[in-house]
Amino acid sequence: MSTQQNPGNGDGNEVVVHDATTPIPAHFENPGLPPHKARQADVDPRAAKRAERQVVALFTISIIGTIGMIVAYALVPPGDTPGSMRQSNFLLGLGLFLSLMGIGTAAVHWAKTLMNDHEKVEMRHTQRSSDETREAAVEVLKEGAEDSGIGRRGVLKGAVVTALALFPLTIAVPLVTGVGGTWNVGELKHTIWRKGVRLTTDPAGRPIKAADVTIGSVFHVIPENLDEAPHKLEAKAKAVVLLVRLDPKDLTEAEDRKGWSYDGIVAYSKICTHVGCPVALYEQQTHHLLCPCHQSTFDVADGAKVVFGPAKRPLPQLPIEVDDDGYLVAQSDFLEPVGPSFWERLK
Ligand code: FES
Repeated sequence: MSTQQNPGNGDGNEVVVHDATTPIPAHFENPGLPPHKARQADVDPRAAKRAERQVVALFTISIIGTIGMIVAYALVPPGDTPGSMRQSNFLLGLGLFLSLMGIGTAAVHWAKTLMNDHEKVEMRHTQRSSDETREAAVEVLKEGAEDSGIGRRGVLKGAVVTALALFPLTIAVPLVTGVGGTWNVGELKHTIWRKGVRLTTDPAGRPIKAADVTIGSVFHVIPENLDEAPHKLEAKAKAVVLLVRLDPKDLTEAEDRKGWSYDGIVAYSKICTHVGCPVALYEQQTHHLLCPCHQSTFDVADGAKVVFGPAKRPLPQLPIEVDDDGYLVAQSDFLEPVGPSFWERLK
């Protein structure tokens, strides 16, 4: 063996250097587990009681968070101003945070202070355990339940069961009740576009005449009836549209959409079908619309189909026509939900 001692700098931290021919020992001595140290709660019943109270307090925080979130949902609607929306979101977020944080920290604290902390060694084995091992696992689980002391600690049992039982309400209540309409799934399918509603410029609200839209130009569009919407910001967020005029000979239109454009003018939802960023970067030469968030690219000349990126479906098209005064108007609402896909979408 060829081992050299690095002279080092005299501080005693010399390094031993092995060359390539140095044999590597086949086995290392198993250092074993360090000696077990009992925790305070293991030896002092008062410390155990104190830890139990702390766990109960954390579950109680979760319960308060869940109830608080539901109360905030019912009593503090998002309203129409950025300030009221911020306030509503803050209270909902705070309730959810306390609800989940309480359960998580209580479980960790419970495991660290009250449950068995004996080190266990498990040897690696094939994936399917033998029947004996499976039975042993059931025994271990039973032992764990016994260790947790849930049978003996009535208050703790009540706290954990209540916290876990209440938490799903933070999701279920808004979904089921649709109070305030903001989480009502049905509303995700519609916008305020209706037959005859004029397309107006965003943000000025000036109606757009077809004659004013020159080939290659792009308009950011909102519906004329926006001021009548009960939740204006929400309604605007869903109804925003990008209007583009192409040379009609560049346009490829599906058979069932032939009549949805006007003389090369097409209107598409501005909400990316990936996760909802505004798609607003239009490249005139290629007719491509780019989403700045994750670079999904849509071909405006071909039904706004996805040509690149993570989006999975084309931007929904708003069917448009021209009214008697030459202004662009919607033929109807979008015929499919705008924005990212969600669980009740049919396609
Ligand atoms: S949100 Fe548009 S690509 Fe992700």
